[in-house]
Amino acid sequence: MDHPVIKAIEDRRSIRSFRAVPVTDEQVSLLETAALAAPSAVNYQPWHLSFVRQPALLDEINRTAVEAIGRDPAYNIFFHAPLVVFIAADTSRKWGVLDSGIAVQNIALAAHDLGLGSVIVGMAEAAFENPTGDALALRVGFPAGHRFAISIAIGVPAAGKPPHENQPNRITRIE
Ligand SMILES: Cc1cc2nc3c(=O)[nH]c(=O)nc-3n(C[C@H](O)[C@H](O)[C@H](O)COP(=O)(O)O)c2cc1C
Repeated sequence: MDHPVIKAIEDRRSIRSFRAVPVTDEQVSLLETAALAAPSAVNYQPWHLSFVRQPALLDEINRTAVEAIGRDPAYNIFFHAPLVVFIAADTSRKWGVLDSGIAVQNIALAAHDLGLGSVIVGMAEAAFENPTGDALALRVGFPAGHRFAISIAIGVPAAGKPPHENQPNRITRIE
């Protein structure tokens, strides 16, 4: 198929197993470029993105979320990925969370293009909705007036995954 963007969209999968290999500075720069290129309502760009490669901070966010959700303490919401991007949305903007969702998909597709795997992780919200969430948000670098919208864990894939089953009945064509 001579439609590389459509092919990338079709080939992307949620990857939940990563090799213990760092994501490089160059890869991080390219992911940042892809994120910031996302469209947004009236071009307000109502997001803040934190690219975190610090294992201790990722562990702490994971532990806080896992405890808040009541999951098995052995569970890792980021699947031990070496990079997690946290996107916080400007709460004063009507489309802030939607715009952040578009940015996260740009990152997922860019990661795929770089041969990396990714999984979007909503569960991290539990860490920021916690009583210690505001302190955590400060440490992650969320500016005032921004709230966690979504996160994405990224790394070199250690395993693949079949595509999800599409639901064509979710489409109506009117001609
Ligand atoms: C908003 C959003 C939140 C998600 N949160 C999680 C999550 O917390 N943990 C997880 O393992 N997957 C999460 N996912 C990934 C979905 O489970 C996944 O996209 C879906 O099962 C379809 O599989 P695919 O991405 O391989 O096509 C999330 C996806 C989206 C879009």
